[in-house]
Amino acid sequence: MKALRSFSAAVIGTAFMLAAVATAQAQSPETMRQWQFDMSGDGYELVMHEVPMPVAGPGEVLVRVHATSLNRRDWYMLNETIGERGLDYTGNVPLSDGAGEVVAVGEGVTEFRVGDRVASTFFTDWVDGKRNAAVRPSARGAGPGTGGMLAEVIVTTPRALVSIPDHLSYEEAATLPCAGVTAWNGLFTQGNLQPDEYVLLEGTGGVSSFGLIFAAAAGAKPIITSSSNEKLARARELGAVGTVNYRENEDWQVEVRALTNDAGVDHVLEIGGRDTLERALQALAFEGHIALIGGLTGAAPPIPVGALMGTGGMASGIYVGSRADFEAMNAFIEEHEIRPVIDRVFGFDEAQEAYDFMGNGSFMGKIVIAH
Ligand SMILES: NC(=O)c1ccc[n+]([C@@H]2O[C@H](COP(=O)([O-])OP(=O)(O)OC[C@H]3O[C@@H](n4cnc5c(N)ncnc54)[C@H](OP(=O)(O)O)[C@@H]3O)[C@@H](O)[C@H]2O)c1
Repeated sequence: MKALRSFSAAVIGTAFMLAAVATAQAQSPETMRQWQFDMSGDGYELVMHEVPMPVAGPGEVLVRVHATSLNRRDWYMLNETIGERGLDYTGNVPLSDGAGEVVAVGEGVTEFRVGDRVASTFFTDWVDGKRNAAVRPSARGAGPGTGGMLAEVIVTTPRALVSIPDHLSYEEAATLPCAGVTAWNGLFTQGNLQPDEYVLLEGTGGVSSFGLIFAAAAGAKPIITSSSNEKLARARELGAVGTVNYRENEDWQVEVRALTNDAGVDHVLEIGGRDTLERALQALAFEGHIALIGGLTGAAPPIPVGALMGTGGMASGIYVGSRADFEAMNAFIEEHEIRPVIDRVFGFDEAQEAYDFMGNGSFMGKIVIAH
């Protein structure tokens, strides 16, 4: 475990002080803890820092974060070398995804009140409608000052928060902002998923596990792949109508088509990239929709024009989604009383262990940190 270098004895009593935030901003504690990326050789290490307690200025909201969750991008960032892709994350407070309780609001804030249960939006500046050039730099947790959630307290704007469904715990709600909204956007906003349609999910990680439970709740027919038969058994319990082990069956797309009586799947959440895109296209039905999401196995090759023209297929590039997507998803989650798939919950002091657990690949669904 990496050193808690900046962590000092002064932190004793922080929990007491944080409680005081809830009652009166005037009595706010002076410091709180947050994890940051520090330089380590030519890369980064996670280090706990004690920093001044933020305050909610005019138009801002102070949130006591109770849980965060990891996405693959967070793991990639920590494991990059400095300057790779032209970016330097030194000083970054990581993680886009978190949920907590409003403990103070600044002047002029009418959207939220002290005590409200909220989650972060992935982009602080994509409220609704189409994406534009201002959206990308507002992705949380991808550089210093981008509003990363791996902290005891954060300050943000009301438009960068959503209310969370009543039936979800903070740990469950913390899994929604990136993986949940991405799956929602791919299947519903872009894909217009309908009951009885076939949906292909690749692997059982964060995005795919949300795709599975959303598709099942919508009355669609999810088919999922995995390297693990144990995970496939769990996926069947969660509503998968078909499962294929992609390790044991290299031509898994043939098996997927067979499961649809050779009609093909109507939707794909394409998270694999290099090793999966071509096969996923072969599994696609006429007029099917493929949501281009990730490159877990490496950068995806170009899509041959004929692969879509020949079938009337449609492809959409997905970049998580807007706050409006998040709110629509939450309404669906509430209606169907959906609970996210969580593999393991780590403590706030165990952030490095949570990253290592993602690195070893044995998890299914989401990895959470309770603060
Ligand atoms: N564009 C966007 O907005 C967006 C948003 C979120 C994520 N992403 C990207 O989407 C990808 C998935 O993200 P995530 O957070 O869901 O990842 P994750 O939770 O880390 O998913 C890991 C899982 O992917 C599966 N996998 C690995 N290689 C595979 C293969 N060859 N075929 C099928 N499944 C495979 C494995 O499932 P099994 O263990 O079951 O084999 C593994 O456990 C990443 O590349 C991420 O960067 C993009």
